[in-house]
Amino acid sequence: MTTDSVDGRILELLRAGGGFASGAALSRELGVSRTAVWKHVKGLRGQGYRIEAVPTKGYCLVASPDLLTPLGLGAGLATRRIGSRLVCLRETESTNAVAFRLAEEGAPEGTVVTADAQTAGKGRLGRVWISPPGVNLYLSVVLRPLISPVAACQLTFLSVVAVARAIEACTTLAPQIKWPNDILIAGKKVAGLLNEMNAETEKVNFVVLGIGVNLNMRHSQLGAGVRHPATSLLEEGGVEVDREAFARALLRELDQLYDRFLADGEGPVRAEWLERSAIRGRQVRVSSGAREFSGEVQGVDSFGALLVQVPGGGLETVLSGDVTLC
Ligand code: BTN
Repeated sequence: MTTDSVDGRILELLRAGGGFASGAALSRELGVSRTAVWKHVKGLRGQGYRIEAVPTKGYCLVASPDLLTPLGLGAGLATRRIGSRLVCLRETESTNAVAFRLAEEGAPEGTVVTADAQTAGKGRLGRVWISPPGVNLYLSVVLRPLISPVAACQLTFLSVVAVARAIEACTTLAPQIKWPNDILIAGKKVAGLLNEMNAETEKVNFVVLGIGVNLNMRHSQLGAGVRHPATSLLEEGGVEVDREAFARALLRELDQLYDRFLADGEGPVRAEWLERSAIRGRQVRVSSGAREFSGEVQGVDSFGALLVQVPGGGLETVLSGDVTLC
């Protein structure tokens, strides 16, 4: 086993037990001496892990560093595809841009890129995604599904539902989905998704799912000029969210939903999207390119387009744009 994999296994075993694990048990599980276990624990401490050592009880993981690392994210992740390769950066222009470059160079399906801060975080429709250091989650995933380019927008359902599920798993808050890919808490935007694709006429080469979740950002960090009322999980719930635990929960949900998507198509994931959607049956105002109109939302079609019934009975199909609840 490499140093990293022993470190990862120790973290996994300490996390799984929740309390103390004896040096003898760890050495047995890992097939290394108790002295080696102690050396690895010292190494992990050097990386910011607080591990208590009590002679009669063994070792207990008290706290992890508040920084995403391949070691911390990957230990015991046990996903099938998502997280096959983990790239964790301190600062970058945009995790989507990095993931896109890696995918062009042949990065495997499931490659995940995270950053502590983004200097040019990208939002939808050419907007900026505010990305201060140390507080939020900025994450991009490379997927290589064997689908046609028109079907790629179905992957939006997948990432939105995964974020909603991760919020439920890590907080007591109730996320709502707003078309096409916003997550709201109490009507304010807490997460956004930007999927980018490299495709030929007939086939998708790869898709990058870009996910930004405001975890512990304060209102004062949001800055002026954000279009929608925005918030963070900390502002709404009053409790700091463990960034690593949230990221791991999100990767697991993505993995499970992607598995489902590959096995059963977009139907089941879209059904969950609709169930969670804050928009069905609501009156909305749509701004899509040069088009502006109001109407009642009927649902979404299998390609993710919003179906809006306009006065007079016609049904408008909206593929991209901004939707405001009336
Ligand atoms: C939106 O406008 O709602 C989409 C925001 C998407 C932001 C995420 S943060 C991680 C990834 N990297 C980026 O540059 N953008 C996405």
